[in-house]
Amino acid sequence: MVDVLRTHRQLDRHVSARASLPSQQIFQRDWKIYRKFIDNNYLFHREAYACLRSVLAREMSGKSFSFLDIACGDAGASIDALRGAGIVHYEGIDLSRAALDIADANLSALGCPFVLKEGDFAEVLSQREEPVDFVWIGLSLHHLRTPEKRSVMRAVRSIIGENGRFLIYENTSPDGENREGWLERWQAQRPFWTAFDAAEWDVTWNHVSAADFPETVSGWRSLAEEAGFKRARELFVAPSDLFRLYSFE
Ligand SMILES: C[S@@+](CC[C@H](N)C(=O)[O-])C[C@H]1O[C@@H](n2cnc3c(N)ncnc32)[C@H](O)[C@@H]1O
Repeated sequence: MVDVLRTHRQLDRHVSARASLPSQQIFQRDWKIYRKFIDNNYLFHREAYACLRSVLAREMSGKSFSFLDIACGDAGASIDALRGAGIVHYEGIDLSRAALDIADANLSALGCPFVLKEGDFAEVLSQREEPVDFVWIGLSLHHLRTPEKRSVMRAVRSIIGENGRFLIYENTSPDGENREGWLERWQAQRPFWTAFDAAEWDVTWNHVSAADFPETVSGWRSLAEEAGFKRARELFVAPSDLFRLYSFE
């Protein structure tokens, strides 16, 4: 039984200009479209979050740890990955109130205190000093350009200490591919993503073509090094080869 007395929630709101950008519409107004990506496993959430779960089981086994979910969305996949692990505190940051409302309703399943912050993670992290053991970003760091990604990764490095873990699952190009090449391969998935009607596809494509900025494999490794990480391990490559999961240590 969930210990209701130990479980509490807190919702912080940081008004951010980024939330009103048209490219954020898919997450602000149309969360159900993004949900179709998850429910149909088009972005390989199942495998990526299973990988997160196995890292937690292997490397955090027997430990109590705090978890920061950057751009947590509705936190559904994270909750599944974290269930039964030794999490003692969960913190999620996201710009989408629609997604955070769902997260807020579901996070008590973890049985630990949680806090949700509505705001731009780049802004929130630039001011954050409180340490955390494990940081995860699923499919969101790619919204930033390279220098901003580096700043966020540096901020994460500074709060996780020597034994902390930082995992990302992000848009990635094989070395030698540019953004246009990655977008072309993304568009080529259209015939397989049959759950979307024409209007939903338009919202999706407008978002991705305006707001997604993949890095190459070498690019992610360089960013990790520049941010102060000593080791980068590639733990999962999506079968579409559009996304990869890295552990930075
Ligand atoms: C593709 S979804 C990923 C959600 C979840 N992490 C997952 O793995 O499915 C991207 C999420 O990032 C959020 N987001 C995008 N840019 C953000 C920013 N600068 N600050 C906070 N949240 C942001 C969106 O609101 C959305 O919930």
